[in-house]
Amino acid sequence: MSGKESFADTAAIGRPENRVDGRPKVTGAATYAAEYDISDLLHGHVVCSAIARGRIKSIDASQALALSGVVAVFTHNNKPRTTLLGIKHKDTAAPPGQPLRPLHDATIHHSEQPVALVVAETVQIASEAAALLRIEYEVHGHTTDFVTGLPTAQVPSSRRILIPKTPKPRGNADKAFEAAEFKVDAEYHTGAVFHLPMELFATTVRWDGDGRITVFDKTQGSQNVQLYIRNVFGFSLRKIRVVNAYVGGAFGSGLRPQVSVFMAVLAAKALQRSVRVELSRAQMFHIGHRPETHQYVKLGADRTGRLQSLSHKAIGATSQHEEHQETVVHWSSTLYQCDNVNLEYELVRLDIESPTDMRAPGGATGSFAIESAMDELAHESGIDPVQLRLVNYTDRAVDANREFTSKALRACYTQAAERFGWSARNSQPRATRVDSELVGFGMASAVWDARMAPAPTRARATMFPDGSVEIASSTTDIGTGTYTILAQIAAETLNIPMSRLRVKLGDSGFPLAQVEGASWTAASTGSAVQRACEKLREKLSKSKRPLTKPLSVMGTVIPNFLEARKFAGYTHAAVFAEVRIDEQLGVIRVTRVVSAVAAGRILNPKTAGSQIRGGIVMGIGQALHEHAVVDHRFGRVMNANFADYHISCNADIQDIDVIFVDERDDKVSPIGVKGVGEIGTIGVAAAIANAVFNATGRRVRRLPISLDLLL
Ligand code: MOS
Repeated sequence: MSGKESFADTAAIGRPENRVDGRPKVTGAATYAAEYDISDLLHGHVVCSAIARGRIKSIDASQALALSGVVAVFTHNNKPRTTLLGIKHKDTAAPPGQPLRPLHDATIHHSEQPVALVVAETVQIASEAAALLRIEYEVHGHTTDFVTGLPTAQVPSSRRILIPKTPKPRGNADKAFEAAEFKVDAEYHTGAVFHLPMELFATTVRWDGDGRITVFDKTQGSQNVQLYIRNVFGFSLRKIRVVNAYVGGAFGSGLRPQVSVFMAVLAAKALQRSVRVELSRAQMFHIGHRPETHQYVKLGADRTGRLQSLSHKAIGATSQHEEHQETVVHWSSTLYQCDNVNLEYELVRLDIESPTDMRAPGGATGSFAIESAMDELAHESGIDPVQLRLVNYTDRAVDANREFTSKALRACYTQAAERFGWSARNSQPRATRVDSELVGFGMASAVWDARMAPAPTRARATMFPDGSVEIASSTTDIGTGTYTILAQIAAETLNIPMSRLRVKLGDSGFPLAQVEGASWTAASTGSAVQRACEKLREKLSKSKRPLTKPLSVMGTVIPNFLEARKFAGYTHAAVFAEVRIDEQLGVIRVTRVVSAVAAGRILNPKTAGSQIRGGIVMGIGQALHEHAVVDHRFGRVMNANFADYHISCNADIQDIDVIFVDERDDKVSPIGVKGVGEIGTIGVAAAIANAVFNATGRRVRRLPISLDLLL
């Protein structure tokens, strides 16, 4: 980060500390789910469906079982007993509906659905045996094409927990639109995008005897997986320990227990052996994704650019068996003041796997539509895009009828515009060239929830006689810097150096925490750590003698529900992008991105800056590179590998500049933190699309923006 810090904290909080887990990670001492060295380990290979919908007529495993080293083949025909209640497969992050129950019956709901598990002495034998399974299907017709399915879109039949109700219409958006001076009426499309963390999903179950298991799992919530295993397999909670001390990225794909958990525990319990199941990269393309959306935006403004009418409708994709829902449209009326608003959200059910939350679920797609439309309105009305946002700025969360806990978005616009050099922009498209390239500037606003986990979060602080302190919480660090910021909070609260601290995370046996997600971990676990350390400090100050044995205290925090009825917490950002486009070839380079973020207190500008930069890189991928090619005859992603599914790589990423604007917030969480996990990716695709328009005069309303769309 090249930005100067606007805070002058000399204490641990606010310092750009290096990651405390950096050394173990780069030296290989950090152990991931598939890396635990366990004796007598069996290996499971998941076999997936070759068809998108229908029934399994037969599975012949005789050849596979005949292979030396093969221990078992599990299918729906011989699946060991699991819970008879479908609802018990629901985890804490599940949407309404019936989660997929692997090996439940012969029904095929989507392509690449897991249909068997081959267990063998080695990974190689398991995968060879998997190829020997003879599976016969009865093929039924399927619909995997979202665009074909659009006419069947419907309002979700029940609302997903934590997803706010779509606000009722205010005023009369249609009438106001008719009367408006400037109008935009456009449709936008965003393709499915995949999480694809570096680490593959993997579960290693160690059979500890006496009915106990230790489950090393790639997950964003050890206790969520622990509950799932109890509910599905009937172990008692205290006999299940789930460990996820290190997670190699997840971006939401690890919020729900993945199929590797089910398969590994199933086999371990049946065989009373230790078992590991690791998915393949290709399988990672059918375990959840950011769903495709189609969106309709109508904006009407008066002569000064003030919005008179705002309509935003989004249709998202989901599976046949679950109603995966995201907040896609509410951001529009949260960002802008308008009296006539109409928001709608519907789902198309397809014969696909359930989508899964992916970094800024709904925000990353909804912002593309509203922020592209605002750019179109700016162009229509001849008002500068930043000015248009300022004209429509709101100091109140109108839909929720609440004050903001804090909102420094105005400063985001100003500081980012200045750093970027926005005043040099020529509003005339195709007007700026450097050598053989067209140059374009674009910008967008971003907003995301700032909230604490909606349940208690706990952390334990223990002081040892040698003066060292251990912090423990079951929460997860998925690569975001949680270990580091918690150490900083503890160091500052106890007024001790970081070197005297150990932070332990990622173990279901540690104090209660919700899944790591929704940008709430720093605010929730951070506040719990602070509380624990305050209590510890108090206890130590009262005792007169030196410690002779460890002293432990627990810190617990819950969101302030009373405050939440008066105040709405949001993180904001303004993101500016410069693109350079080769006119002959259509090649788009994102040469500069400046993002100014208002996220309350920044605990560590280095790790927080990396969060924002990572989000921007993901946004660049969403805008330009990530394109899943589905052959709808098979209902399957055909480019399910890193060679053909492009994600942004080093050569695609140039200058990224992150600014944290000063924002004091004493309401959003006890430590004044809003969270930075998701805000960085929001608005990036729109800013790039708007820059592409400024460069070329070509308005691309679908993602990804491929070269052919510019020629
Ligand atoms: Mo996030 S999509 O809540 O991991």
